[in-house]
Amino acid sequence: MHQIKLADDIFYVGVNDRKTHLFENYWPLPHGMAYNSYLIVDEKVALMDTVERTFIDEYLSNIKNILGDRKIDYLVINHMEPDHSGAIRSIVAEYPDITFVGNKKTFPMLENFYQIKENILEVADGDELPLGKNALQFYTIPMVHWPETMVSFEKNNGILFSADAFGTFGTLDGGIFDDELNLSFYEEEMMRYFTNIVGKYSPHTQRAMQKLSGLDIKMIAALHGPIWRSHTDYVLSRYDKWSSYKTEEGVVIVYGSMYGNTEKMADVIARQLAVRGVKNIRVYDASKTHQSYIISDIFKYKGFIVGSAAYNNEMFPTVEALVTKIEHMGIKDHLLGVFGSFSWNGGGVKNLMKFAENIKWEVVYEPVEEKGALKADKFQMCIDLANAMADRLREE
Ligand code: FEO
Repeated sequence: MHQIKLADDIFYVGVNDRKTHLFENYWPLPHGMAYNSYLIVDEKVALMDTVERTFIDEYLSNIKNILGDRKIDYLVINHMEPDHSGAIRSIVAEYPDITFVGNKKTFPMLENFYQIKENILEVADGDELPLGKNALQFYTIPMVHWPETMVSFEKNNGILFSADAFGTFGTLDGGIFDDELNLSFYEEEMMRYFTNIVGKYSPHTQRAMQKLSGLDIKMIAALHGPIWRSHTDYVLSRYDKWSSYKTEEGVVIVYGSMYGNTEKMADVIARQLAVRGVKNIRVYDASKTHQSYIISDIFKYKGFIVGSAAYNNEMFPTVEALVTKIEHMGIKDHLLGVFGSFSWNGGGVKNLMKFAENIKWEVVYEPVEEKGALKADKFQMCIDLANAMADRLREE
């Protein structure tokens, strides 16, 4: 079996998941997911996180391919989410004397998830764990992506074991390092991973990047996706841009429509935006496209125009789910437009305007609401809404 080396004594022992359809049972994985784990083989042996539990056979085989019968001294738990901690019980069964390394927020979770409370070594910011030639230094990065999350910096080689930070969706199909693969494939999967999983914690990501900025990082070994050694700027600049809510000129239009009246309004608005020279326009039917992709595009583009048919005096259910998610994520600094239609009593636009109040984005034009099919006066208002959005985009 191949041994995949990050440095003389440091190995990749992760696995690819091409079976799971939905990460966290929610986010689509059309290109799968890699659960990365690493092994440092020095005077002491340290395993950096584990993998999702169903991969234990392959995972143990990867470890033993490098270690043979040698024991593992430390399991460093940078992150407790079960896509990384899931194999802990199996690791303990195989290596009963292993010591768990984590911070004060790690160990209550370790006990809650796996009823483990023995053999623990608590570390705090800046603490060091010597392994021989190599040494690990620890820094907490709370809420990137859970409260206990930390990173481990291997000083000898400048390797940052960065937990979820700087990860991507997508399996590692042969290429493990950034210079062994075509990065354009990962661009979209990286953005979707960041926005879906970590995006709610953008301010925390900014704080984490600030905290780690003094380290001489030569390689980034995240828990998902490629290992970054030749293009660390590629991943760092993108995470910096997205977590600071920097957007491009463009508009995402999303609608929920039963019989096509609200959809028609979306098409009119989209066409007028194009007439006005807006090149990046994405129109989504909220019933067809998973939130994962829509949210990723909302992080990308400054404008968001959302339309809803009335449904039992409320928003259309798939639009309601989307705007609720956006609100929970606390995405900042967008331009907003609202439209919709109804048959007798309304409810779509009215509730979208509650969303507008809550999210506090700038509303570029008054809400456009039609009764039944689109007619001349509301057609003109759709044009005016598009013009107002195009004007504000140009001013930005
Ligand atoms: Fe990849 Fe937050 O776990």
